Amino acid sequence: MKVLVVGSGGREHAIVRSVSLSSRVDKIYCAPGNAGIAELAECVNIGVMDFDALTDFALKEKIDLTIVAPDDPLVAGAVDAFEKKGLRAFGPRANAAILEGSKAFSKDLMKKYNIPTAAYENFDNADDALKYLEGAKMPIVLKADGLALGKGVLICNTLEEAKEGVKSIMLDKQFGSAGNRMVIEEFMTGREVSVLSFVDGKTIRPMTSAQDHKRALDGDKGLNTGGMGTFSPSPFYTKEIDDFCMKNIYQPTVDAMAAEGREFKGVIFFGLMLTKDGPKVLEYNARFGDPEAQVVLPRMNNDIIDVMEACIDGTLDRVELDFKDNAAVCVVLASKGYPVKYEKGFEIHGLEAFKGRDEYFVFHAGTKFSDDRIVTNGGRVLGVTAMGADLKQARANAYEATGWIDFDNKYCRSDIGKAIDEA
Ligand code: AMP
Ligand code: GLY
Repeated sequence: MKVLVVGSGGREHAIVRSVSLSSRVDKIYCAPGNAGIAELAECVNIGVMDFDALTDFALKEKIDLTIVAPDDPLVAGAVDAFEKKGLRAFGPRANAAILEGSKAFSKDLMKKYNIPTAAYENFDNADDALKYLEGAKMPIVLKADGLALGKGVLICNTLEEAKEGVKSIMLDKQFGSAGNRMVIEEFMTGREVSVLSFVDGKTIRPMTSAQDHKRALDGDKGLNTGGMGTFSPSPFYTKEIDDFCMKNIYQPTVDAMAAEGREFKGVIFFGLMLTKDGPKVLEYNARFGDPEAQVVLPRMNNDIIDVMEACIDGTLDRVELDFKDNAAVCVVLASKGYPVKYEKGFEIHGLEAFKGRDEYFVFHAGTKFSDDRIVTNGGRVLGVTAMGADLKQARANAYEATGWIDFDNKYCRSDIGKAIDEA
């Protein structure tokens, strides 16, 4: 069969790699893709939001399955656009992707269906939000309602900071129209875990757990980024926690969406905080995480096409997911200055060192061809992933492999997976 993957980052490279392992797939396209994806797929220069061009391409090439990976097109109705033209697409429709597209929606859903999450209030004007803050306990968390490239969350330690935050979200529109509404919620403490899951509208199959490192600098300092590295599994995510989450969070979320007439098919990403009062939902995403996908997918033994088709067809109850009994660590190689200001266009050396090695992967996030060289083309450039028998081995392997790559202004955190030592 012919498969089209929509997107251009490390997550999409990891998805394309898994698709390339399927015995059922003859040809892979990626729109728009990147220089690494181009080794496995034919990249076509169509933007992820150009639904007319994407669906025309899929019709013309007789694509059997399109996988929509990023949040923006999902929330804007990419899957609906494919289905309208009679094409098969993997991912939630717009009415279900709202689980990620509106934080106010997802908080109200959790409240209505008793799914554990931080206490909160929604606001659609700055005056009410500012009034509410007067009596609130600090620290407090402010969230722009809509999509904001993972940056629409402000953690405020003082009342002054919180007031400034409300103003910048709702009045100055720091995150654009994402800040037309906002959520103010209780600050929680604990360990964070990401659990990705396949969903077919009724049945949910969680994948192995992972942990992201969102801050730019060592010691979880600096600004929030798209993610600087991941490890999988999380040693803090026990069987007992998994059972609790299945009963109180995962299945109830799928059932709640169905009850609301918003049947969810695709991947739900649960961002969890393991608090002293039990696991609580920090956020939902309606897609694979990045860089979570880069440590979770290489550990999956299933044919990803079988699993995705079962999600579309509503037959996921017949599928059991199977993960390797090992561990993986991904260290993101970024451009110095990310996420604020950085230079691009530097040649990348050393990529060939990953060829022919089963346990090491270099997923491209922001790269492109310049003549016949591969150059940096983004803040996050590469995701260097390694597997190992356990987390410590995987981490040692991943950091060793970061040394094989060289480009000007290369930067990575040196403490990805440090939490492993505390397990
Ligand atoms: P989100 O985009 O909602 O995952 O938020 C980004 C990051 O902000 C999370 O990964 C957490 O580290 C932090 N965060 C979000 N909500 C809370 C909360 N209620 N309490 C503490 N930290 C939070
Ligand atoms: N790594 C977090 C995300 O994909 O949103």
